[in-house]
Amino acid sequence: MPPAWNIIASYWADEAKTIEAFRTGKGIAWGDHDERLYCGVSAFYRNAYRGSLVSTWLPSLDGVVPRLESGARVADVGCCHGHSSIIMAEAFPKSRFVGFDSHLGSIAQVRANAEAAGVADRVTFEVAKADGYGGGPFDLICFFDCLHDMDRPVDAARHAGRHLAEGGTVMLVEPFANDRLEDNITTVGRLYYAGSTMLCSAHAISENGTHVLGAQAGQARLGDIFSKAGFGHFRRAAETPFNLILEARR
Ligand SMILES: C[S@@+](CC[C@H](N)C(=O)[O-])C[C@H]1O[C@@H](n2cnc3c(N)ncnc32)[C@H](O)[C@@H]1O
Repeated sequence: MPPAWNIIASYWADEAKTIEAFRTGKGIAWGDHDERLYCGVSAFYRNAYRGSLVSTWLPSLDGVVPRLESGARVADVGCCHGHSSIIMAEAFPKSRFVGFDSHLGSIAQVRANAEAAGVADRVTFEVAKADGYGGGPFDLICFFDCLHDMDRPVDAARHAGRHLAEGGTVMLVEPFANDRLEDNITTVGRLYYAGSTMLCSAHAISENGTHVLGAQAGQARLGDIFSKAGFGHFRRAAETPFNLILEARR
């Protein structure tokens, strides 16, 4: 929990911006927050990735681990400080990873993180939006806790579909949520609705696109996004009290 205190510190530091955003309805871009937000969010989620990504989440996806073991190309969209890519690169040395994020400050930090972890030879990072990167085809395209932040999630999913290799997989990791609001009035749901209001929805509003999904979108709405983007297969592969791990294929 201590890394999460940086998130709370950023909420307080950004109080004036938040009040203004509620007055104007213009939202707050992810990159306009107090700096403590980025390391706070990244270090908080890193715990779940260290605990579950390699041991449970990747094996829950059909045929993905053998591809990673023999050498796959992986995109990590909305990677922020890149801990997810670094953890996968440590576990699968024959694979190559590219992290994309629209926030310049995070990409500057993530390169130093990869150097420090000794995986800079197989992980690269680029500033790019979720519907604007190149470099495929990818065997695996990951969205860790970021699709719901995006103002154009259908475009992001469609772009992923176009950049998947034959038989490739999209792994969508999202905050745990049920489909009905009344089923999300739980301790975890309250935490996520607060974060969603301050961060996720505020960012999507600031980009002025097609959607403001928020951090409690739930599997049905997320499945609808992928269906609209042309994916024929979408299923829940795993879950924790904090996350849904969803698998999408064309
Ligand atoms: C909650 S953070 C999650 C970061 C990271 N994936 C993790 O799990 O720690 C959401 C990230 O999505 C990025 N993001 C938001 N909208 C984006 C877009 N349209 N294209 C690319 N990245 C985007 C933000 O800059 C931010 O780094």
